Amino acid sequence: MHNRSGNRSLLIKHAAEIVTNTGTVAKKGADMNHLKKITDGAIMVKNGIIEWVGATADLPVGNEKNLEIIDASGCSVIPGFVDSHTHFVFGGYRPEEFFWRLSGTPYLEILERGGGILNTVEATQSMEYDAMVQTASKRLDAMLAMGVTTVEGKSGYGLDLDTELRQIKAMGELNNNHAVDVVPTFMGAHAVPPEYRGREDDYVAFIVEKVLPAVVGQGIAEFCDVFCEKGVFSVEQTRKILQAAGALGLKSKIHADEIVSFGGAELAAELAAVSADHLLQASDKGIADMAARGVVATVLPITAFCLREQYARARTIIDSGGAVALATDYNPGSCFSHSIPMLIALAAIQLRLSPAEILTALTLNGAAAVGRADRIGSLERGKQADIIMLKYPSHLFLSYHVGMDIVDKVIKKGQVVVDKADLT
Ligand code: NIG
Ligand code: FE
Repeated sequence: MHNRSGNRSLLIKHAAEIVTNTGTVAKKGADMNHLKKITDGAIMVKNGIIEWVGATADLPVGNEKNLEIIDASGCSVIPGFVDSHTHFVFGGYRPEEFFWRLSGTPYLEILERGGGILNTVEATQSMEYDAMVQTASKRLDAMLAMGVTTVEGKSGYGLDLDTELRQIKAMGELNNNHAVDVVPTFMGAHAVPPEYRGREDDYVAFIVEKVLPAVVGQGIAEFCDVFCEKGVFSVEQTRKILQAAGALGLKSKIHADEIVSFGGAELAAELAAVSADHLLQASDKGIADMAARGVVATVLPITAFCLREQYARARTIIDSGGAVALATDYNPGSCFSHSIPMLIALAAIQLRLSPAEILTALTLNGAAAVGRADRIGSLERGKQADIIMLKYPSHLFLSYHVGMDIVDKVIKKGQVVVDKADLT
């Protein structure tokens, strides 16, 4: 863990390019393709906040004390990535399941048999708090090394009161003590625990009456998410949980239309959720409704790849005026990967997003998907200095150097927290 408060000044200069969105809300439709580009660029940071961005030649003259200077010649400089959908706090692993799926057993059938998510639930319930924090902290280290400066993480591997609260508390501690900013989401409605089988509405009542108030009382969680899927939680049950969560001050997300077209996207629009995620089977109406209500469509192509499902229609969503965010969905089941290079490769080659759309989806729109586009997601005056320097002079290399990690340095709140300059 390395959380250093940004109390010094940092100057990055002579960047081959600085490429960023501008603004404090998600970019939609054709606007996702518009980036601001500064050649031979410079960024001045003070107390962890960006103070000035422009051409090196136009740098205001000052006499800063304690000024750290980085020469970014040959490097493209972009905002830190926001991984806006993960399940990174978990116990145990499920390698067998990966191969069962490849031999033809469907994801939902494994869950139906009491495996899948429920397997991880058992392992997480028996995990002590310290072990939970330590393992999750190492995962954040690895994510940070790939340029991820903000991570959303979900509970939902507890399903009982104590473990759900423990997962959220662990994320709160990591947010305080790790360089990566962590946005905690309560996802008690991730699966129906075995003891509630056949009494699903009782579990929903338990979530609404017991768990949600305790979670909100902890004061850590910012979002509530529900796995709205055939055989898991119905549209009605999802609505009930998210309305209750909303009344207690949590913002909404939905795991929507992942395996079956189920009305999750429509519900996200109805509830004005901040995001709906997965969307592999989202209907035309669901896509249109979401665009009209400004719900961010969070697309998770590594999961579709692992499940060998068809990809979400990210191109259609953007072309119909919607806002797309890209995230990994890092979890021990459907997608045991937090690989940003792989995410970018799939977005470029399978989803057919442009380099500018990909950058927008991983930065400003990711920030919007976690309700933080006012603070992070772009390189402009007043935003948190979460910055990536690439090993190449253009952001085009993110897609072009397929599946490769080309991050050279990661700067978090104005401090260099990852430096790979000497590695090839
Ligand atoms: O987003 N779909 C539901 N939840 C996760 C998977 C969780 C798991 O398999 O452990 C997802 O894919
Ligand atoms: Fe997920």
